[in-house]
Amino acid sequence: MDKKIEELITYNFVDYKTYQSYEALLNEQVIGTCNYSVDKGKAWLYIVRVAEPFRKYGIGGNLIRLMENDCALRRVREIEGKYFPQGEEDSVVRKFYAKHGYSIYDEGYEHFVSKFSPEKQDISGLKITKSKGMEK
Ligand SMILES: CC(C)(COP(=O)(O)OP(=O)(O)OC[C@H]1O[C@@H](n2cnc3c(N)ncnc32)[C@H](O)[C@@H]1OP(=O)(O)O)[C@@H](O)C(=O)NCCC(=O)NCCS
Repeated sequence: MDKKIEELITYNFVDYKTYQSYEALLNEQVIGTCNYSVDKGKAWLYIVRVAEPFRKYGIGGNLIRLMENDCALRRVREIEGKYFPQGEEDSVVRKFYAKHGYSIYDEGYEHFVSKFSPEKQDISGLKITKSKGMEK
């Protein structure tokens, strides 16, 4: 696939009120999502996922940077999340979070990730839109 695909992606911020989402769109199709919520200075990262054919183009990284940027602007002190990758995906996801500065820890069968004091990110090259979401 043409590596220039990343230039065709638009990132849409959706405010569902109880949580926020950045979605990566290609020809109006959602091909990646990062869902999170913020409460009392703490962010809970529900999921970051990119559809398989579109992985390794930097889209997941952009989604996580957009989420972190929003958290920094909202003075979040810590981002925490739980993930459930299966099989081979586990090492991919661990590497992905480690690369973005998250610590990873296991409690029993559950995996958690966490990062303190997220910082503003340079998101100037990304095409970003905003919309209001209906409560799901
Ligand atoms: C984890 C996940 C979100 C990463 O998404 P992604 O879009 O592939 O992420 P990125 O492209 O930013 O980074 C992945 C790799 O691609 C590489 N990459 C980025 N842009 C690239 C490019 N243009 N060409 C080649 N490689 C590239 C990155 O360097 C990175 O490689 P590394 O791990 O060796 O450092 C994705 O694999 C996924 O959805 N996994 C399953 C869902 C899941 O379990 N999520 C966990 C939360 S519940």
